[in-house]
Amino acid sequence: MATTLPEKLNAALEDIEGQFYIDDDFLIKASEYFEESMKQGLEASKPDRKHMPMIPSYVTSLPSGKESGLYLAADLGGTNFRVCSVDLHGDHTFDLKQSKYKIPHDLMVGNHADHLFKYLADKIQTFLDEHHADVKETQGEDLKLGFTFSFPVEQTALDRGKLLRWTKSFDIPDTVGRDVVQLLQANLTVLEIPVQVVALANDTVGTLLSRSYANNPAYTNANTIIGLIFGTGTNGAYFETIDKITKLENAPKGAKGMVINTEWGSFDNELHILPNTIFDQIVDSETANKGYHMFEKRISGLFLGEILRVALMYLFEKGFIFQDLYNDRGGSLPHRLVQPWQLDSEVLSYIQIDDSTNLKMSELILQNTLRLPTNTHERIVIQRLTRAISKRAAQLAAIPIATIVRDVKDQYKDDDKDFEIGCDGSVIEFYPGFKDEIMKAFQVIDPLKGSTKQVHLKIAKDGSGVGAALIAATAV
Ligand code: BGC
Repeated sequence: MATTLPEKLNAALEDIEGQFYIDDDFLIKASEYFEESMKQGLEASKPDRKHMPMIPSYVTSLPSGKESGLYLAADLGGTNFRVCSVDLHGDHTFDLKQSKYKIPHDLMVGNHADHLFKYLADKIQTFLDEHHADVKETQGEDLKLGFTFSFPVEQTALDRGKLLRWTKSFDIPDTVGRDVVQLLQANLTVLEIPVQVVALANDTVGTLLSRSYANNPAYTNANTIIGLIFGTGTNGAYFETIDKITKLENAPKGAKGMVINTEWGSFDNELHILPNTIFDQIVDSETANKGYHMFEKRISGLFLGEILRVALMYLFEKGFIFQDLYNDRGGSLPHRLVQPWQLDSEVLSYIQIDDSTNLKMSELILQNTLRLPTNTHERIVIQRLTRAISKRAAQLAAIPIATIVRDVKDQYKDDDKDFEIGCDGSVIEFYPGFKDEIMKAFQVIDPLKGSTKQVHLKIAKDGSGVGAALIAATAV
């Protein structure tokens, strides 16, 4: 197997790998800076690009597992709109019925908020027709719905929140600044759908709540402290004590604390500390929310493939790879390689662990997904870059987790249970080695120094839907 790369190509590759390298000192410094940014976000009365939004959710307690009843949840956050009904049994378990609807691209980047929200209301109707045809006849009352809306929203009550900006692949300018609960409710009302939107939640808040509901500390010997997503985008939510949320003017009476949606995707938008390779810069320049969510753009599923694609194009332009292909095609490359956003992070997850002779598996995958023929050297380059990009992503992902663990540990100082973290999203669930790499970097930051407590990452599937239903339950 011709595994030795030509010297110059190897040197160019090592240079790029070096740019993606993260050392221990960086992790420790970045965690300190993250802590500062959390604090600023909890103090600042107005959202600012400089610090994390740290958005109060108006959820003032975590579920005990005893909640019960039938609730609806609708979840908008990625390429699918999910509607589900959740029957909470009051014993940490639930039944879930759900349908997914792929959102047409022109609604994600359209000019009118109502086009999107009418589509969402329609799909809620379709779901009710399919799964709860009895609702209209048997119930005089509207069904309560928790709306998971996974974008930065300035929330002012459990059922009120204005969109601050779109992230991921959404861009419908006339929605910004408007109340997304009202937009959905208005469209449901026009269509005479017997549903009342009683709560608005970020998907990470939902994940925290659903894992807290499912977790029975008597068996796991652990308290659930964070809900997080590493999927198309990334973010996390945790329970903060009221005294630290100094910006909160209308704190609900008697509340000891509140779940905070950190919007950590926006950590260090000003790039004081985050690595900023030329590849990161190009990727940012291709997005609709330039200069925002800079942390997310180094970590989450939407961006990993694009960083790789941009790095490959760089090596091509320097004359290192795809030269024969270019000449054979009479001066062009496959359009899926040349066009942004065509390289899915799922493809990287296969390449990451390919140990077949001459990376034959990767050859097939690249051919099938990108229509990209490759030689062995090119595939070695692609695999090494994939590993460097995903390793950096997982190491960076440890920063918010470790910092929040350090922040909340005092809330549990009289309790010797472990900590567990509810996790959802394709990257954390399926990307090979991602969780392990996070935990290695977590140990470097070592937020529980001197304690015997452990931290466990628990996959909380469908967390956001169940979580929204739980919030709807508390809103009644
Ligand atoms: C959004 C968050 C969301 C996260 C995960 C980010 O782009 O800003 O609100 O929680 O993606 O879905």
